[in-house]
Amino acid sequence: MASVIIAGVGAYAPERILTNDDLAKMVDTSDEWIRTRSGIRERHIAAPDQACSDLALIAAQRALADAKVSASEVDLLIIATATPDYPLPSTACVVQHKLGVPPHATAFDIAAACSGFVYALEIAYGQLLTGRYKCALIIGSEKLSSITDWSDRTTCVLFGDGAGAAVLKKSDQDGIGIIGSDLGADGELAEYLYTPAGGSRCPASPKTVEEKGHFLRMKGKEIFKNAVRVMETVAREMVEQHHLSLDQINLVIPHQANVRIVEALAGNLGLPMDRFYVNIDRYGNTSSASIPLALDEARKAGKIKPGDYTLLVAFGAGFTYGSTLIRW
Ligand SMILES: CC(C)(COP(=O)(O)OP(=O)(O)OC[C@H]1O[C@@H](n2cnc3c(N)ncnc32)[C@H](O)[C@@H]1OP(=O)(O)O)[C@@H](O)C(=O)NCCC(=O)NCCS
Repeated sequence: MASVIIAGVGAYAPERILTNDDLAKMVDTSDEWIRTRSGIRERHIAAPDQACSDLALIAAQRALADAKVSASEVDLLIIATATPDYPLPSTACVVQHKLGVPPHATAFDIAAACSGFVYALEIAYGQLLTGRYKCALIIGSEKLSSITDWSDRTTCVLFGDGAGAAVLKKSDQDGIGIIGSDLGADGELAEYLYTPAGGSRCPASPKTVEEKGHFLRMKGKEIFKNAVRVMETVAREMVEQHHLSLDQINLVIPHQANVRIVEALAGNLGLPMDRFYVNIDRYGNTSSASIPLALDEARKAGKIKPGDYTLLVAFGAGFTYGSTLIRW
């Protein structure tokens, strides 16, 4: 039986760092509040002339180099983002051209917010297995600073910019690569995290700008509870489906939204915190980029070895969620 492997990973975070102390000069907050409530110390912020595709491009180049694959070999390009360069065309088309992926490739964006990377993994995994495609490049890229209300202390302290990418290929070796993938969505919770204006329901107008309708609105407490609940469920279901125990998972890479969410998840699953990769302290919540940014760091830090099981677990606006089980 054939499998689909992650042949390379790459990430990029913009140069500029915004610390909690910097934020305390912008809104009524403090380093102490942000650290204790979220675990975040600092986040990266893209330059004004950097858009989603610019961050994606660098992450993609690094993932291709890591996989020793050239852009000309990519025939499926998927970008998961909530902050595309334009409402249309897709950011995937912009990156296809900039990166030199051939025009015969399939290129499109997906909207699954912070679960976007695991959604893209599932799509690429399925498509590669059909034999229709040979080499997929998937990217999570976000310039969340462009949809953040920098005068709202309840949201602006949480988010950051960044990108992460992975190259996926089919392999003849059985039992490695993506072992399982499972996704879900509960649209009843759609307004827990959303941008009210700028879409077809409420097109951009002077009034929507005045009302700050183009920025993120969030029900933090409700998201927190649902995040812990769905991540615990998908983690348990994934290991059970594959006849494993949670104990056999060498590393869990959760979506990085709040370290307290990860701590609650770890407690509910009965796993120690050192089994979870956490880098939210340095990046904040980078939405679809958060899991590939963490995956890239974890690999470079030697935390993933051949034969290891890694479990990715995500949740995000929608309310979307999902998990991917990988064996290296
Ligand atoms: C947002 C979040 C950090 C808030 O933490 P919390 O412990 O629930 O805090 P609360 O919302 O109860 O706020 C407590 C108080 O701090 C205040 N506060 C909110 N943001 C603040 C800030 N940046 N600095 C200082 N005080 C702040 C609130 O106004 C509130 O004051 P009050 O008690 O006088 O009303 C937390 O709920 C969270 O992380 N939720 C998940 C959000 C998320 O993951 N979003 C992305 C999904 S992909």
